[in-house]
Amino acid sequence: MKHQFDVIIVGAGLAGLRAAIELGEDTSVAVLSKVFATRSHSGAAQGGIGAALGNEEEDNWEWHMFDTVKGSDYLGDQDAIEILARDAPRTIYELEHLGVPFNRTPEGKIAQRAFGGHTRNFGEASVKRACFAADRTGRVILDTLWEKCLQRSIQFFDEFQLMSLIVSAGQCHGVIAYELASGKLHTLHSKAVLLATGGYGKVYKTTSNAFASTGDGLAIAFRTGAPLEDMEFVQFHPTGIYKLGILISEAARGEGGVLRNNEGERFMELYAPVIKDLAPRDMVSRCILEEVRAGRGIDGKDYVHLDLTHLGEEVLNTKLAEITGFARTYSGVEPIKEPIPVQPTCHYMMGGIAADADGKVITDSEGTPFPGLYAAGECACVSVHGANRLGCNSLLDTLVFGRRAGKEMRRYIHTVGFSPLPANPEKEAADKISALMESNGNETGAPIREELQEVMMDKVSVFRHRTGLIEALEKVRELKGRYQKIAIQDKGSCFNRDLLDAIELDYMLDLAEVITLGALAREESRGAHSREDFPDRDDQKWLVHTMFRYSKEEGPQVFFKPVTITRFQPKERKY
Ligand code: FUM
Repeated sequence: MKHQFDVIIVGAGLAGLRAAIELGEDTSVAVLSKVFATRSHSGAAQGGIGAALGNEEEDNWEWHMFDTVKGSDYLGDQDAIEILARDAPRTIYELEHLGVPFNRTPEGKIAQRAFGGHTRNFGEASVKRACFAADRTGRVILDTLWEKCLQRSIQFFDEFQLMSLIVSAGQCHGVIAYELASGKLHTLHSKAVLLATGGYGKVYKTTSNAFASTGDGLAIAFRTGAPLEDMEFVQFHPTGIYKLGILISEAARGEGGVLRNNEGERFMELYAPVIKDLAPRDMVSRCILEEVRAGRGIDGKDYVHLDLTHLGEEVLNTKLAEITGFARTYSGVEPIKEPIPVQPTCHYMMGGIAADADGKVITDSEGTPFPGLYAAGECACVSVHGANRLGCNSLLDTLVFGRRAGKEMRRYIHTVGFSPLPANPEKEAADKISALMESNGNETGAPIREELQEVMMDKVSVFRHRTGLIEALEKVRELKGRYQKIAIQDKGSCFNRDLLDAIELDYMLDLAEVITLGALAREESRGAHSREDFPDRDDQKWLVHTMFRYSKEEGPQVFFKPVTITRFQPKERKY
């Protein structure tokens, strides 16, 4: 089946929907999503969205900018971070006007709470900067934007899997998608394509990410010639539910919750004397694991306690209701009376498709654009998060840069016509599906996926070392070899999960390889990338973005891009 739209947006999370709204009523827009739109992973965001509104205490955008630069361990591009921090208050008021039901202060202003790494006066003390709707902030924003898209007659292709980008003469003009309900391929022809496909936390065993977070958009863009940037930087959120990885929002600590070891000690006081439990996530995750290594995990195991018992029933039931329920359901503890067992969980990918602040995908270290191809949200690396993202900056990133990508595409589509489609644009996707469906190989996808998630968790997570990284790379490459022999058991065409899992696994294997190569290449410790064999940050050599280009014959090829530094020179990062 063939369709034509001015713009195709792949991904119905916040970045995709915000871009769609910006494109307005005079542009034909389709949003394609492999899940029903409102099940997109943005809806799982809990704690809040950062903006220096100053509603609860003094704040300003320069402090927000500084915190984001310092949080990024100075790897974030400061021109982009300035855009993020300056545009944050406008973004929040826009959401308010669209109808997002934020919590309120007693005077009726948007309420704000503390979050990790957000400080006043350049690091003096914690500041209340996170705007929130209880602990369902992503949910309410997603539902609000979705409703606005429906009002604007934006066409949704729900439960359509992206298969490939249509590119000819170096220009992107559409996508090929697989309809889950029918097993049919669709050609969506357009002037521009925005990838807003989210993260790929499913590469790891313990993750807060949804099942759909497999990085399809990134891997497809990569194979189509778009470089990936800073892929070694993987964020582990300190408080995932023990063994399951389900998120217990940082808002719990923002509201006053504390981490304790097996001696009941509030150990973050020792590691980050100024902001304690509200230190940035890379640091808190390392501290938890240091406690575990020192034998101070609970019952000698690899977890610690998140103690909310002193917050009182009222706070838990009103401001932290979702996570209180998660703790009851998944850990079997009553957070009003008992601490919650937690451990670091893979939460967010700082790396992604290299893009500029207007969402244009770039192809080299000079910023040359890939005509017609855009990226925004977690799948993109702009880079505002550098080596470590601060909590509450990801919802903000999706909205600020989703809007800017929408504006830029709106400009672009008036400068080009519809290019003719190449002959048989569905061939590559059709061949891929047939090869999988008709294979009589002796492998299945599930064990390969499990082994991949395990090796990434063991050797490429919070702490890394050359020896383990080499072992991980060998294992990922062995799994890539085994993948060539997988067979699909389900031969049907209606919601064939077996086939879709196999397609996603292919993408995850590519991304795992690039994450590991990046981690091996970067011989320093910065932000979320902690090399035990190179424990110091090395600004002389490594204050650069790592970029990877796809090569079928030689494997991913690394090159570098300078970091943009404007206001804040790199300094030692203490909290
Ligand atoms: O902890 C949280 O609520 C997560 C927020 C974020 O990742 O920004």
